[in-house]
Amino acid sequence: MLLKIRPEHLRPGMFVVLPAKWLEHSFLKSRFLIKSQEQVDKIRKSGFEEVLIDTEKGISPADRKKAGGGQDEKAALAKFDPGILKEAVFGRDMEPEQKARIVYLSSLEIMVELLENPVTENIIAAKKGFFHVVEGVFSDNMSSYLIKLLRHDYSTYSHSVNVGTLSLLLSKSLLGEKNSHNIHEVGAGFFLHDLGKARIAPEIINKAGMLTQNEWRVMKTHPEEGYRLLSETGQLSEESGIIVMQHHEKENGTGYPLGLKGDQVSIYARICRMDVFDALTSQRPYRKQLTAYGALSVMKETMGFSGELFNRFVLLFEEKKRCA
Ligand SMILES: [Fe+2]
Repeated sequence: MLLKIRPEHLRPGMFVVLPAKWLEHSFLKSRFLIKSQEQVDKIRKSGFEEVLIDTEKGISPADRKKAGGGQDEKAALAKFDPGILKEAVFGRDMEPEQKARIVYLSSLEIMVELLENPVTENIIAAKKGFFHVVEGVFSDNMSSYLIKLLRHDYSTYSHSVNVGTLSLLLSKSLLGEKNSHNIHEVGAGFFLHDLGKARIAPEIINKAGMLTQNEWRVMKTHPEEGYRLLSETGQLSEESGIIVMQHHEKENGTGYPLGLKGDQVSIYARICRMDVFDALTSQRPYRKQLTAYGALSVMKETMGFSGELFNRFVLLFEEKKRCA
């Protein structure tokens, strides 16, 4: 597939198609595999506004895994490049599947950088990146592709991105027509819902087995920690505050930290509560990993999920089935 990108997004490994005839630039050919950073720099200095790359003959902007096998998924992620994300969201001539891959990978990259160093500038950069993700999801029909991309390793960063992505898709279905919502802040809030886990000891966060009572008590402070972190860095909005604080509340009053009941639990938090789906479909050492349809059945039959919100959530997976 030919893809139009800006020269600053070129990298070795891409097969480039230069827009000018060979006499009008200083390269031997107009089409070639870029083998070095020097070639990238030379193309960038040639003054082209855009170049084409052939993703069947070389890597694409979404193929950003570093070379070498055996690295874990997190190490394989590249540094977040806002330009590539913007190109995917606002650029023309890109297929929804390709856009979805860039949006999902960019979200993972943002999340890794944020959770490893949740300082003010990273939170600001993350929110800006997630605003673009919101734009992409709301303006393009990429839901079925995004759902296919969800990873199921249940690390905090992939869990945050999966929940952010699914919550955003559900919001588009549920709140899409209602412009009374600040959907950018809502969307960023979904991705940031577990931000407080950045302040919980890694031994607790990464523990393979069940948590002890004391560890569980510490874990349950993450909504307040997240709220405090956003507040201290001046990045708290009404929407993100609600989502971060309420995403473990349940309408029957058995949630935490406040034990809110019924309508006291915001619609944003109820959307984010579908995070149960990600927990059920992820690999955990102490529980069997369920398929999407298995998880939806458990949510309905054992956990009591019902109503319009849940029905619309189920429909997201029906759409995936139709497009598969
Ligand atoms: Fe949480």
